[in-house]
Amino acid sequence: WTISPAEVFASGPVVPVLVIHDVAHAIPLAEALIAGGIKVLEVTLRTPAALDVIREIANKVPEAIIGAGTVTNAQQLKEVTEAGAKFAISPGMTADLLEAGARGTIPLIPGISSISDLMKAKDAGYTYLKFFPAEASGGVKALKSIGGPFPETTFCPTGGISPSNYLEYLALPNVKCVGGSWLAPDEAIKSGDWAQITELAATAVKNATQ
Ligand code: 3PG
Repeated sequence: WTISPAEVFASGPVVPVLVIHDVAHAIPLAEALIAGGIKVLEVTLRTPAALDVIREIANKVPEAIIGAGTVTNAQQLKEVTEAGAKFAISPGMTADLLEAGARGTIPLIPGISSISDLMKAKDAGYTYLKFFPAEASGGVKALKSIGGPFPETTFCPTGGISPSNYLEYLALPNVKCVGGSWLAPDEAIKSGDWAQITELAATAVKNATQ
């Protein structure tokens, strides 16, 4: 099955940014997040295991909307597509990546932190974007300002998002979801504390939807 960028953004207010070192953690982690009400997962290409993790979740956890993060070039977009990712997210963009995304079979969510990049992405047909690094790039204030001239561009901010600020982002009309690593702390993954991860997910979803 395939999904549109709009559907990815509408499938849950919080997107866990996952750094997974051991493929054995893939299934229990995905299941823990799903038990907490989170379906959209971003597995970053920051570990050698990442492609195997994506393949494993794509094959064995059908409820998950498994995406690949830290996709920075056309070759990686190809690899994550072959591994079964349903969408790809990049911290930034290049002309080459935007082109590959337009030709590709899964949605690409390019990252921007400047108006010039937003305009380049928009010209290439992208209106669902990551805003990264969100807090360091002006955060809620910046997104509010960007919504003036570019109301049709919709964002998933990530980078510095935490339980203490994510609801402010989600209150913006041009933000549909936020991403963050706080939902799956490294220590919890390494120690197999899946209950803690389910709890973090459930709390984040509950506060975002009530
Ligand atoms: C990302 O890739 O989206 C960020 O590294 C996540 O940032 P965070 O660790 O501040 O949540």
